Amino acid sequence: GADLDTGGGPAGAHPAGHGVSVADLRGPAEPAPGGQVRRYTFTARQTTVEVAGRTVEAWGYNGQVPGPPITAAEGDLIEVTLRNADIGRGVTLHWHGYDVPAGEDGAPGVTQDAVPPGGEYVYRFRADQVGTYWYHTHSASDVGVRMGLYGTLVVAPPAAGLDLTLPVHTFGETTVAGGPGAHDAAPGTPVRLRLVNTDSVPHRFVLSGTAYRLVAVDGADLNGPGELREVELRLPAGGRYDLAFAMPSGPVALFVDGEPGLRLGVGEPPPAPDGWPELDITRYGTPADTAFGPESRFDRSFTLVLDRGIAMVDGVPRYAHTVNGRAYPNVPTQLVREGDLVETTVANRGLETHPWHLHGHRVLVLERNGHRVTGSPLWMDTFDVRPGEVWRVAFRADNPGEWMNHCHNLAHAAQGMALHLRYD
Ligand code: C2O
Ligand code: CU
Repeated sequence: GADLDTGGGPAGAHPAGHGVSVADLRGPAEPAPGGQVRRYTFTARQTTVEVAGRTVEAWGYNGQVPGPPITAAEGDLIEVTLRNADIGRGVTLHWHGYDVPAGEDGAPGVTQDAVPPGGEYVYRFRADQVGTYWYHTHSASDVGVRMGLYGTLVVAPPAAGLDLTLPVHTFGETTVAGGPGAHDAAPGTPVRLRLVNTDSVPHRFVLSGTAYRLVAVDGADLNGPGELREVELRLPAGGRYDLAFAMPSGPVALFVDGEPGLRLGVGEPPPAPDGWPELDITRYGTPADTAFGPESRFDRSFTLVLDRGIAMVDGVPRYAHTVNGRAYPNVPTQLVREGDLVETTVANRGLETHPWHLHGHRVLVLERNGHRVTGSPLWMDTFDVRPGEVWRVAFRADNPGEWMNHCHNLAHAAQGMALHLRYD
């Protein structure tokens, strides 16, 4: 099929502007002054995991699912040596939401070849974005991520209180919100919950028993986040929400898609709430100035129409998930120049939600369905474009290379909903 890994031709051979090839755009060898080197070795291999009392086949980095958590402080150098023991489809590490130099991006067929069994690739980049991120394989990613080749990446100063990273993942029919289920936390303890959606579909979260603030989206802090209570948060595939609150005297419970997940404190857990309204994140927080906005003059404007239909795949007409009527790798590449201010309008004409994701750049959301963002500046790397919706977003082209943009429903991406963005 339209395998995401095969569309790009010889990996790394792509020009990336200024006559440089993508494979040469590598991260620095040293941390920033005062930073440390965080060195990891990940060996991807077949394994099993226990889920709801059953043993299921999985693939894991170091045989763990999720893979080893990566934590760092701002300015550290992260160096990960990736090896592949026995994953026949090959593996990579893609740093989701982290704007690494292109040669570290882990997109097979674009920035490197997938690491075959017995092979190795060393990734190096500076931890210069603070916040909650994740990593995952980008080789046959539809299968590989579902099987367990993912983990979390958190860049933050040492936390006071309880700081929990909760990757949410579905194994078969069972959705697990990472980490052990119950924690003790004394009243008044500052709590931060970092929710990471590693699935291909959105998840609904509600937190009951406390008021809280949604303090960051996709790793980026929100400006002036207000207090929330009795709302539902819908987290796009690939997205992250950080929640913060002070532990109240009673218990707190997190529900995922209506099912009980994490519990904090002691006492009767609050009952599963029902029918709480969804938070509109485009109206949440306090507006603040950004370097550009909806009225800026843009150097490039792209429109992407997402749909499902017949398109040419490997030279034959097939049902595919399409961008502007075409399936990857036949979707025209977006060309930008370094320094360009780029706007993109993404419209969903289909019947399924498409979590649109950009590599190498986070975007400022300008408008959703013609309404401009009235809350905090909202920077995202993956935004859910629901059926009938139109999102207008913008970014500064400041990370030369060649990049995948795709739907983060990874089955949709594998069936054509992807394209490249390249610096001229
Ligand atoms: Cu998290 Cu190209 O993906
Ligand atoms: Cu999609």
